[in-house]
Amino acid sequence: MRESLRLESFSIPGYNANELRERGERLLPQLAEWSKSDFAGFRRVLDSGSDCYPDLKKIRRMAAAHRKGSSGKPIRDFVILGIGGSSLGAEAILRALHSPLQEPRFHVLDNADPAQMSWLLKGLDSRETLFYVVAKSGATPETLSQFLVAIQWVKKRAKGESWKKHFVLCTDPAKGDLRTLASRWKLDCLEVPPAVGGRFSVLTPVGLFPAAFAGIPLDPFLKGAASVAAWEKAPWHENPCAQLALALAKNARERPITVLMPYSSRLSAFSRWFCQLWAESLGKKGRGLTPYPATGATDQHSQMQLYMEGPADKCLLFVHVANPGGAVAIPSVAGTADLPSFGLLKGKSVGGLLEAEFRATRDAVTNQGIPNGTLAIDKLDAYSLGALFYFWEWATAIAGAELGVNPFDQPGVEAAKVLTKKYLNENR
Ligand code: PA5
Repeated sequence: MRESLRLESFSIPGYNANELRERGERLLPQLAEWSKSDFAGFRRVLDSGSDCYPDLKKIRRMAAAHRKGSSGKPIRDFVILGIGGSSLGAEAILRALHSPLQEPRFHVLDNADPAQMSWLLKGLDSRETLFYVVAKSGATPETLSQFLVAIQWVKKRAKGESWKKHFVLCTDPAKGDLRTLASRWKLDCLEVPPAVGGRFSVLTPVGLFPAAFAGIPLDPFLKGAASVAAWEKAPWHENPCAQLALALAKNARERPITVLMPYSSRLSAFSRWFCQLWAESLGKKGRGLTPYPATGATDQHSQMQLYMEGPADKCLLFVHVANPGGAVAIPSVAGTADLPSFGLLKGKSVGGLLEAEFRATRDAVTNQGIPNGTLAIDKLDAYSLGALFYFWEWATAIAGAELGVNPFDQPGVEAAKVLTKKYLNENR
């Protein structure tokens, strides 16, 4: 099995080998208990015999059929209507592995923002557009409102029942209003396994259908994830995922902020996916860890001052991509070499600059005594991305067990949902 991920230069004070072993013995029963429960099925996504294993053939088949389009023209624009766990994972995949300029073009509408929606619709041709409507509950008003607007927009431009070919839904296999509509109108519909919570669902049809539509091979995502899951067989003192999660949780009081800083613009959406997972899973009972997204080298020019000399309340996790791809040499342009700022770049590549910036920042942060660690991958592909997803899902479960919170629920978001319904009814 190809190595997917390494934890390098780890300086977050954690537990020694004996303590890690002891922690494993104490927390594993809790994790096993959660695995049996309704929402911890993300671990079963990798088990081909389980209720959570994605039907890759069906996903590929549906993607191929829909890519051709139904109006005599192939689909150019794929619009995801979803929010939170129903959009962030797919967006992380697409931003990492698909050029935004390459067709099909992907758009994510993850808010009830009228301007965002009307700007996008104005720029699209309905004959070449497919909407992917994702809501596990089948009841999320932001997503359903966009779905209704999109239906009307397509219906106005399509003949008879042909509008239906412009929608693929993804929701619970049996429950919810979206599932009811899918059956009522015979719309193509994929399934979010009931046992996989929204923010843990990226390796189900939620993230895999858009990936297949983009032409990204699906098996490597699961293989990469499995390469990290294989660490579960080792005791916790040999398990980098447990080491990292427990160290972050141990320092939760003094260093409650977890900054994730991949040195790759292609991973900036991954940082946002991580933020939801970490925040919504761990922030409970007055406990938790606050995630913060950063991108290197971009945020050296925006956030680094705070990290270096601001409050000593953060741990930094870098993601380092050894071979970032897209080799771009920095050319020698006549009339520039005598100027020191340009001369410095002579004979270098853009990737070489990024690499130097990563090493310099990590050393500077380490010299400043800021606890940090690096998740290292050789290249950014479906295999390493699957590994990164699974790494953080599993780290989140372990950190939840250590902090004494259930990472698989989100009772705190209910209050605003109830009030939203009340205010909507008052507006009638
Ligand atoms: O992790 C979660 O469960 C949430 O963040 C959901 O993904 C989010 O609320 C969207 O829910 P739904 O898929 O039902 O629209």
